[in-house]
Amino acid sequence: MSARSIMVSPSLLACDFGRLAEEVRAVEAAGADWLHVDVMDGHFVPNLTVGPVVVEAIRRASRLPLDVHLMLNHPEQHVKPFIEAGAQYLTVHLEAPGLRTESVLRKTLDAIRALGARPGLSVRPRTSADALRPFLEAVDLVLLMTVEPGFGGQAFMPEVVPKVRQVREGFSRDLAVDGGINAETGRACREAGANVLVAGTYVFKAASYKDAIQSLRG
Ligand code: DX5
Ligand code: ZN
Repeated sequence: MSARSIMVSPSLLACDFGRLAEEVRAVEAAGADWLHVDVMDGHFVPNLTVGPVVVEAIRRASRLPLDVHLMLNHPEQHVKPFIEAGAQYLTVHLEAPGLRTESVLRKTLDAIRALGARPGLSVRPRTSADALRPFLEAVDLVLLMTVEPGFGGQAFMPEVVPKVRQVREGFSRDLAVDGGINAETGRACREAGANVLVAGTYVFKAASYKDAIQSLRG
């Protein structure tokens, strides 16, 4: 895995939303590779966050790829507006009730690609690597949650690290980890084969965004 370049995707959930465009420009200047946007519907997870209108505002503030993480019960109903708003990576959850039928999940991943974005698939910490396997050839990004989705600032779950290794064995595209990532937990994930590190609190609460982002690259 060492030849693979490490990408850092700061999670804007931890930024100062009152200064959203400035925060976006600051992490871009500090070396961020992607920008991670957490979309929550108050059902799939208890929290509520932002929709396409905010994704579009982020798009206008930055040229970086937008990595949009949909934590929605029915992501299949919202693919088009998020891609039109500028999502380059659009990630849905395998556990979303709307995607429980395999054909709907496949159709949703294909629709993301047909609309010009890169499809991603995410799983909660307790969902196995085996559950992901049938869909790996259809996605450009796998996003492994290393906390229960819903909130920033939670503690990393080390029991997910073996799953990072298992997924990496059969998957050569982008493999991301999300939740509780800092220099130390990020290193464990990189060593297991992750090449995209999503980090909210660690970047946005740091005195220097640049040092925090740099430290995630190892
Ligand atoms: C949690 C989100 C994460 C979150 C990570 O549901 O998917 O992207 O913002 O935040 P930290 O890095 O603070 O754990
Ligand atoms: Zn996320």
